Amino acid sequence: MFLVVPTPQAVADLVSTLVYQHIKAKPAAVLGLATGGTMEPIYAALVAKLQQQPLPLEKLTTFNLDEYVGLSAAHPQSYHYFMQQHLFAPLGLAPSQVHLPDGNCRNSAEECQAYSEQIAAAGGLDLQLLGIGSNGHIGFNEPGTPFDCNTHEIELTAQTRQDNLRFFADAAEVPTHAITMGICEIMAAREVILVATGQRKADIIAQLYTSGVDEQLPASVLKQHRNLKVIIDEDAAALLPTHLQQAG
Ligand code: PGA
Repeated sequence: MFLVVPTPQAVADLVSTLVYQHIKAKPAAVLGLATGGTMEPIYAALVAKLQQQPLPLEKLTTFNLDEYVGLSAAHPQSYHYFMQQHLFAPLGLAPSQVHLPDGNCRNSAEECQAYSEQIAAAGGLDLQLLGIGSNGHIGFNEPGTPFDCNTHEIELTAQTRQDNLRFFADAAEVPTHAITMGICEIMAAREVILVATGQRKADIIAQLYTSGVDEQLPASVLKQHRNLKVIIDEDAAALLPTHLQQAG
């Protein structure tokens, strides 16, 4: 389940190749996408591959995991903005192909329900990319989130707000809530790739390795997924048992 490669760039090369091959094999694929620092080199590598060897992308559909509540799509720290900048604009994806929860919606319960219905109407997710929070969250499913949830609004933990402070001018600007795809929708994806890079993730990756399936460590639910790859660099693998620490 754990695939260790030497560097973040090697992670980006491998994960972007897997996504590229997935799109090549299924041009009408439904991709579940993630944001965050870990994804930036992956999207850069995917864009470069698609520029060198273009594939038809008109039939592709994407759904992102999450969005901050209260940030409009034009806010530079919104996940809409991140995706536009790092992937959608460089690939020329049309607005009708890409989906993120609307963080500025008036009724979040209705927005969550509608988002779930859109995912279902698309036939569910073929391939879901995931990062992992330092507290084990996937999407913004924070520790303690029930595993039987679809898209819902959650309150971000102090740890997550602290981790994401680096993207904002000050702590008061970091949103307190988000809308996130639920564990049910993530687990229903036909293939899942969880990615982690850097020393900052070594502790949670070691916890994930030893943990049983436990709602206090949301990523541990993936141990029940039948098509999961965990792709990490050597820094993120540093606290795994010795035989797993180095690239194979
Ligand atoms: P990061 O975020 O890639 O910025 O570390 C990962 C996550 O919180 O899922």
